[in-house]
Amino acid sequence: MVASKRLVVSCFLLVLLIAEANAQGLKVGFYGKTCPHAEGIVRKVVFAAMKKAPTLGAPLLRMFFHDCFVRGCDGSILLDSSNNQAEKNAVPNLSLRGFGIIDDSKAALEKVCPGIVSCSDILALIARDAMVALEGPTWEVETGRRDGRVSNINEVNLPSPFDNIAKLITDFRTKGLNEKDLVILSGGHTIGMGHCPLMTNRLYNFTGRGDSDPSLDSEYAANLRKKCKPTDTTTALEMDPGSFKTFDVSYFKLVAKRRGLFQSDAALLDNSKTRAYVLQQARGSTFFHDFGVSMVKMGRIGVLTGRAGEIRKMCRVPN
Ligand code: HEM
Repeated sequence: MVASKRLVVSCFLLVLLIAEANAQGLKVGFYGKTCPHAEGIVRKVVFAAMKKAPTLGAPLLRMFFHDCFVRGCDGSILLDSSNNQAEKNAVPNLSLRGFGIIDDSKAALEKVCPGIVSCSDILALIARDAMVALEGPTWEVETGRRDGRVSNINEVNLPSPFDNIAKLITDFRTKGLNEKDLVILSGGHTIGMGHCPLMTNRLYNFTGRGDSDPSLDSEYAANLRKKCKPTDTTTALEMDPGSFKTFDVSYFKLVAKRRGLFQSDAALLDNSKTRAYVLQQARGSTFFHDFGVSMVKMGRIGVLTGRAGEIRKMCRVPN
């Protein structure tokens, strides 16, 4: 009797799992039959663009994060404002660049297989290919996302560079990402730039008494003060100085030495789990593999699949 009950429960769980997998609806090689050259076409566009402008890799990676964290990975970050202000116009998104690469990829795909490949998948592929172009990690991108029709500036509520560790962990947890994902994905800051105003408080007036953030190495702070004057609103600093164009573990080495640029980087040392991951990554050689795993997880957030959403004809406007 007990055994048959167990069997029923197991079957029920199996059905639930299968339902969940179908709801997810993503798989590697989703376009294998419908648009077999899709991934190669995107890669060609990305490589050509990044040969001319390698610094585009960083904002493209960031764009995927900003897409996935608002309304899920549905390409809502790509929509232009129309009747309402779109996500793109929100302050954290104003420094995103590289939208033209998504347009070029979409145009190339529409010529070969019209109406098949979604803009949200294109962005997921581009984020990976941009890292490959920087000789960073590669991973198998799950595809099968469909595009959303809504993009609203008021829904942009991204993690902030001023967040503490509790807030960061909660933000990531609500997206199905754990402490390890938070640390590994923050490692995206091994490439790219951050603007001075995001550091003014840390450097000049942390507690309102003209002091700097005690969690920031004092020698490093003095160095940053030379580059970012209190009223400077335009200068951008390399987040991983000396290797900001290279995808490597030096971000974790910096954070471990209390030289992370933002409070949110420094905060990774304030929780025993995240701290242990930072130190492990700084020492170890698993970053590339781990980054791919966490990117795939991030790419599953709130996806539209099956009959939901649409396949946009142009990535900037709903059909
Ligand atoms: C943990 C929470 C995070 C916070 C608070 C955060 C915050 C920021 C901020 C404030 C900037 C500088 C923007 C500017 O000044 O223009 C930035 C840049 C960047 N972020 Fe993050 N970020 C986070 C997580 C991530 C994740 C998950 C990724 C990707 C996996 C990522 C990738 C990047 C990249 C590549 C840049 C450089 C962009 C460029 O050079 O244009 N960040 N981030």
